[in-house]
Amino acid sequence: MPLLIRGGTVVNHDHSRRADVLIDGETIVAVGPSLEAPTGTEVIDAGGAYVIPGGIDPHTHLEMPFMGTVTADDFESGTKAALSGGTTMVVDFCLPDPGQSMLAAYQEWRHKSEKAASDYGFHMAVTSWSKQIFDEMETVVKTYGINTFKHFMAYKGALMVNDDELYNSFARCAHLGAMPVVHAENGDVVALMQEALIARGVTGPEGHAYSRPPEVEGEATNRAIMIADMTGTPVYIVHTSCREAHEAIARARAAGKRVYGEPLIQHLLLDAREYQHKDWDHSAQRVMSPPFRDKQHQDSLWAGLQSGSLQVVATDHCAFTTEQKRFGLGDFRKIPNGTGGLEDRLALLWTAGVATGRLTKEEFVAVTSANIARILNIYPRKGAVAVGSDADIVVWDPKATKSISAKRQMSRIDYNVFEGFACTGGPAATLSRGRVVWTDGDLRAEAGDGRYIERPAFSPVHVANSTWKELTAPRAVARGAVTP
Ligand code: URP
Ligand code: ZN
Ligand code: ZN
Ligand code: ZN
Repeated sequence: MPLLIRGGTVVNHDHSRRADVLIDGETIVAVGPSLEAPTGTEVIDAGGAYVIPGGIDPHTHLEMPFMGTVTADDFESGTKAALSGGTTMVVDFCLPDPGQSMLAAYQEWRHKSEKAASDYGFHMAVTSWSKQIFDEMETVVKTYGINTFKHFMAYKGALMVNDDELYNSFARCAHLGAMPVVHAENGDVVALMQEALIARGVTGPEGHAYSRPPEVEGEATNRAIMIADMTGTPVYIVHTSCREAHEAIARARAAGKRVYGEPLIQHLLLDAREYQHKDWDHSAQRVMSPPFRDKQHQDSLWAGLQSGSLQVVATDHCAFTTEQKRFGLGDFRKIPNGTGGLEDRLALLWTAGVATGRLTKEEFVAVTSANIARILNIYPRKGAVAVGSDADIVVWDPKATKSISAKRQMSRIDYNVFEGFACTGGPAATLSRGRVVWTDGDLRAEAGDGRYIERPAFSPVHVANSTWKELTAPRAVARGAVTP
């Protein structure tokens, strides 16, 4: 049955206009004023609402084994939480153990994700370097449709890779038309500072923040950008949390480098005071890497979104229960790192961004959906309300109100780091490939409804960057023979 969204204002990243949206099957077939509805069409009244592309969260960790435990939200609860908040696609991370085959990790993650209720894709992590990994990267790109490879510069002794491994992997990405994605913190310095703090008797969650100051992130961000530049690839820096990292990205972009930065909704809204809380659980629940920063860093991140030097707002949804967090009682190094946010990202960003005048509604669409769709090379299939696009659509009510509460959330954890935040603006309905999957508190998506989205290599930016790099590459100087 065709579906017509009538009477709303369609908001894309580049413009807004009053228009109806006609959907046939999974696809948008018409966008325009006063569209005729074929007989039998179901009509959704969007009067007074915005009609926006479904959110894409490019940074989640569902059912991820990490720090001796497994994240509490799996592909079912996580993607249902996403849909209820207006996010219609997530990109998660396949994490091979160091030395494990990428192909085996891919199969494992595809199995876990069979119960996804929303569309999803994967980044593949490079956690070690070998001839096998070099070879497998080609299969990952060409057979599995994954065009991004994740690298951790932190988590020493577990997922961390060193500069030579980064160089080799980034060079391979450049060749394959894929893009490195980087967790940028200096893992050697973090590990030594952790030891020093424990030795001084700082064992609580505040030690986590003290061991990873902004300088540690700024340095690693600069280093990742330099290595990407040397190997000729664009690069995407995840969870950009501080002024130092943002400035590294902004500087690189001003110098013509293809670098992207991703602040999280958590770092935009929560700050380092959380780690001084007298309640251990409260502070531990907020332990993530990088940690929340002093408030002044938030102004820098917001300015980055406004100026375009930062492109995407994600969540790094990595949810652990209080019980899991308590693995780190007595030693902050054992508190599982991660916080949630998948279901609240859009409403929080609208409230703190659009309702305050820090962002336009078009910029909101850019940083929650369109920009990442372009970066991941799936635009305009995803990230746009346009003819031919997948009908992943949110009817967004700018007047909806909600107070965030763990008691009412879909996520499986027992708290919410945004508890009590009052949101203005929220989804009246979420559509996933043409089907209403959430409306008025009624979740209609089932486990398994989500589809795996392949992403082709060689995005336009990749092609342009490698063309320029080839043109300006070092060349041998032709010389005559040296006479003895
Ligand atoms: O603390 C975090 N961010 N946990 C998830 C893993 C990662 O570093 O992204
Ligand atoms: Zn090749
Ligand atoms: Zn990370
Ligand atoms: Zn992450």
